[in-house]
Amino acid sequence: MPEMRVELGERSYPIVIAHRIMDDLGQELKKFGFSRTLALVSNPTVYGLYGSEVSRSVKSAGFDLAEVIIPDGEEYKTLRWVENIYGELLKARLDRKSAMIALGGGVIGDITGYAASTYMRGIDFVQVPTTLLAQVDSSVGGKTGVNHALGKNMIGTFWQPRLVWVDIATLETLPRREFLSGLAEVIKYGVIWDEKLFSFLEAHRDEVLRLDRGALEHIIRRSCEIKAEVVSKDERESGLRAILNFGHTVGHAIETATGYTKFLHGEAVAVGMCAAASLSQQAGLLDMGDVQRIRSLVLSYGLPAEIPDYIGMDSLLEAMKLDKKVVSGQLKFILPEKIGSVRIQQVSAGALQKALAAEKK
Ligand SMILES: NC(=O)c1ccc[n+]([C@@H]2O[C@H](COP(=O)([O-])OP(=O)(O)OC[C@H]3O[C@@H](n4cnc5c(N)ncnc54)[C@H](O)[C@@H]3O)[C@@H](O)[C@H]2O)c1
Ligand SMILES: [Zn+2]
Repeated sequence: MPEMRVELGERSYPIVIAHRIMDDLGQELKKFGFSRTLALVSNPTVYGLYGSEVSRSVKSAGFDLAEVIIPDGEEYKTLRWVENIYGELLKARLDRKSAMIALGGGVIGDITGYAASTYMRGIDFVQVPTTLLAQVDSSVGGKTGVNHALGKNMIGTFWQPRLVWVDIATLETLPRREFLSGLAEVIKYGVIWDEKLFSFLEAHRDEVLRLDRGALEHIIRRSCEIKAEVVSKDERESGLRAILNFGHTVGHAIETATGYTKFLHGEAVAVGMCAAASLSQQAGLLDMGDVQRIRSLVLSYGLPAEIPDYIGMDSLLEAMKLDKKVVSGQLKFILPEKIGSVRIQQVSAGALQKALAAEKK
């Protein structure tokens, strides 16, 4: 099976990407020297689709498996549910050499990683991402966390998994809208790092949209390679890693301004990428032709490119001030200079307002 690694010294780990590999997970886990009892964390939706397969594979490899099911939804990514997970881990007597398995999308990955990083001062965990977003983004890089009533992802740790196990067949059951939303992050990697990936997305749209195995494997692999490279160079986001937030300043503001009800994350990021491209063009950094190329690609994958009228400019600007990426009042933006390359730049409120107005329907 082809394998790639996130290089972080003794905390390095492999990312395995292939089609229909849930059955092989148990055998793979035997290589790590975990103690006998493991815990699987999932939600009823994903567990119903893949739980029995994973459970069978892990048990037939000789492990005991505690299963922790938390309800499906972002609203359960909280400390309260972490506490429930701890309770199950203690009851099943997981020890310091036990490991947890996160089976699900980014919500399950984030909360499981957080629980793993704090249970008995930190135990190992394995990511088995089942959404496109989780496969190309949240399962790689070691950011874990939960939400607080006063802000999303405000409580968290950096805690790298020991293995990321990507079965691309899981995308066949993913709701279409979730799939397209995940593609926004793939487009993001093309813009910030890899013109070839961007062109591949332009040229192979039909294959990607019909979930052609080869096309999916290619874009997921390339996305993971890019994220792995960026994270290896800057694990804790003191500089370079911030480029992964391209499209996210405006994206998060849209999510906040709409109370997380109207846009999926990737949809908001798609709009945010178009806004950042306009901003960059207005700052004289990016050609109009490239702005158009970004917009066209976003639209061709059924993603939104514009800020709808019902979101007021004031609420967007207000939301951006609350963004945790804002350092001492300065708005930092990731601006493309051409497709495949970005720079980090401070942006004035005036310039931002102008670019946002250009994105309004
Ligand atoms: N840690 C990071 O670096 C990072 C990065 C980006 C996002 N995130 C976090 O990720 C979360 C969003 O993740 P998400 O978009 O995967 O959402 P999600 O985990 O809520 O999954 C979306 C929906 O799809 C369902 N689902 C998952 N896999 C399925 C499958 N194969 N078939 C059918 N249904 C399936 C889920 O049950 C859920 O209803 C947010 O909490 C966000 O903060 C974290
Ligand atoms: Zn994102």
